[in-house]
Amino acid sequence: MKIKTAQFIISAAGPEQYPVDGLPEFALAARSNVGKSSLINKMTLRKNLAHTSSRPGKTQLLNYYKITNERAELYFVDFPGYGYAKVSHKQREEWGKHAEFYLLNREPLTKVLLVVDVRHRPTADDCAMYEWLYYHNIPRCIVATKADKISKSKWQHHLKQMRSTLNCDSHDRIILFSSELGLGRDQLWEELHGSI
Ligand code: GTP
Ligand code: MG
Repeated sequence: MKIKTAQFIISAAGPEQYPVDGLPEFALAARSNVGKSSLINKMTLRKNLAHTSSRPGKTQLLNYYKITNERAELYFVDFPGYGYAKVSHKQREEWGKHAEFYLLNREPLTKVLLVVDVRHRPTADDCAMYEWLYYHNIPRCIVATKADKISKSKWQHHLKQMRSTLNCDSHDRIILFSSELGLGRDQLWEELHGSI
């Protein structure tokens, strides 16, 4: 997929700062450090569009990235990582409220990409996030990233375990991804375009 333009738009602290052009939005939710920013960079083939770090919990606002590719114009919305312990309880609540407001009310929101680390069994936070999306009937797709960190022979087993631990609906897709290898990139673009 050729990318025509990819730009950071805004770190939105609240709804008054969301874009008003109505383009489809894809939100990325994950625990901190799972690889949301890396995924955005790989999808857009830009090395440093989204800031990556080995220090968890730096993403505190809704970061909007506007992408124009051969087929569509859309936003990626990089979310605060959930389940990050080293912030105050109050701060966590504030982020949670903002994220929740967005997910429940944002009209251009087209799909949530729930990004999970394929190496490990989904955590209680991952399960709670999935369940919440399911309960509110929010369109979603699971992206199992860091595939390069386990051997190929283990992929299917891990995906199966992920599906059962999250208690996924049979219609929910899980896309195996690696920001390192570019694995899953075409498939994820197909999934996004298919839901616009
Ligand atoms: P926060 O914004 O801090 O919540 O993190 P994030 O979810 O945006 O994760 P980020 O993309 O910053 O990646 C965290 C670390 O994992 C970085 O050191 C990345 O280089 C690494 N990483 C991310 N995705 C992959 C992947 O697919 N494979 C490998 N090997 N490393 C990855
Ligand atoms: Mg990030």
